[in-house]
Amino acid sequence: MKRATKFTHMGRPKAGLGTAVNPSVTRASTLLFERAEDLYRSDVRGYGRHGADVHDKLAEMFTELEGGAGSVLFPSGLAACTYPILACVKAGDHVLLTDSAYGPTRKFCEGYLTKMGVETELYDPRIGANITTLIRPNTAVILLESPGSLTLEIQDVPAIVDAAKAHNVITIIDNTWSGGLVYQPLQMGVDISCHAATKYFGGHSDVMFGAAIARTKSLHSKISTTAKLFGNASSPDDAYQILRGFRTVMPRFTQQSETALALATWLTDHPKVQTVLHPALPSHPDHTLWQRDFCGSACLFSIVTKDMPSDDVLAFVNALKLFGIGYSYGGFESLVIHCDPQLKRAHKTTLSGPLIRFACGLEHADDLKDDIEQAFNAIS
Ligand SMILES: Cc1ncc(COP(=O)(O)O)c(C=O)c1O
Repeated sequence: MKRATKFTHMGRPKAGLGTAVNPSVTRASTLLFERAEDLYRSDVRGYGRHGADVHDKLAEMFTELEGGAGSVLFPSGLAACTYPILACVKAGDHVLLTDSAYGPTRKFCEGYLTKMGVETELYDPRIGANITTLIRPNTAVILLESPGSLTLEIQDVPAIVDAAKAHNVITIIDNTWSGGLVYQPLQMGVDISCHAATKYFGGHSDVMFGAAIARTKSLHSKISTTAKLFGNASSPDDAYQILRGFRTVMPRFTQQSETALALATWLTDHPKVQTVLHPALPSHPDHTLWQRDFCGSACLFSIVTKDMPSDDVLAFVNALKLFGIGYSYGGFESLVIHCDPQLKRAHKTTLSGPLIRFACGLEHADDLKDDIEQAFNAIS
């Protein structure tokens, strides 16, 4: 069965006499037991913090999404990135983090992990097999993100995984960009794949959620135990919203990706644009890796403008009418942000000038093009 069919039919109650199509949502802190003997059973859910049926169903869908051994759910995408790291490190360890990583994950590593006595070293996202030279006896984890959040470098994940495996190092990837729909890193040997489900699975910019999918049962149990120790819990209402988003994620993702590629292609020849960063474009430096490892692209891409001072870049962003200025992506509406492509990077990019990141929504591509054109015209 294809995944589109599975996502339509998984997590639903069996039809009976007038059964609802969707699972019901139970809100609970206390769960009651008829017999005192059952209170401490390990095979029965004992307390609301440990989830509800809707969480179990949703976790199964995430496991199916990437072909993992199990998933752990979190109340945000950031938590889905940080808890798996916490589960895999101890004081004295060394962590390798791609320099293209999502900013708050980096802040967590440089802040909290440092406080725990875990050292974080940033590596060039395009390092590939040379990562071997950075692996130390105390390296516990390599953190990947492909493509990078803003600068969209594609990593040579199989080469990094080979090096990691040779040294018994765990690999964790932030797979938010692809939604697991066009990229399957667990199938390439990555150990844990993390998602900000807030994006495509929420799909409507009104819920925050995350999931970490483990390749093996023992890693799943490691993440789950750590998450329980820290009191991780997500609302059943939010879990339901994400499960609901799963039903329609594939057509939404496909349409938004097509729009993004159409805009990126058009902008390649635009006189105001110096560089378009979209891995499905042949001009992208990692296009060959993308072709080898991915089976599609997503709604997010960036540009660097030509001969435009920073004030004009701000004026351009302010002049856009259909792109809301705000973080995130994968919702039904288009968004835009601007940033310095060097950020706080240890390995500087060759990109000049401010970078503008577009997240395409479900508006018609022609209207989004017109909006970008009128915003460029507004500043000339
Ligand atoms: C690549 C990536 N990872 C993780 C996150 C964090 O997700 P959330 O906003 O749900 O905490 C984001 C959010 O923008 C993201 O873009």
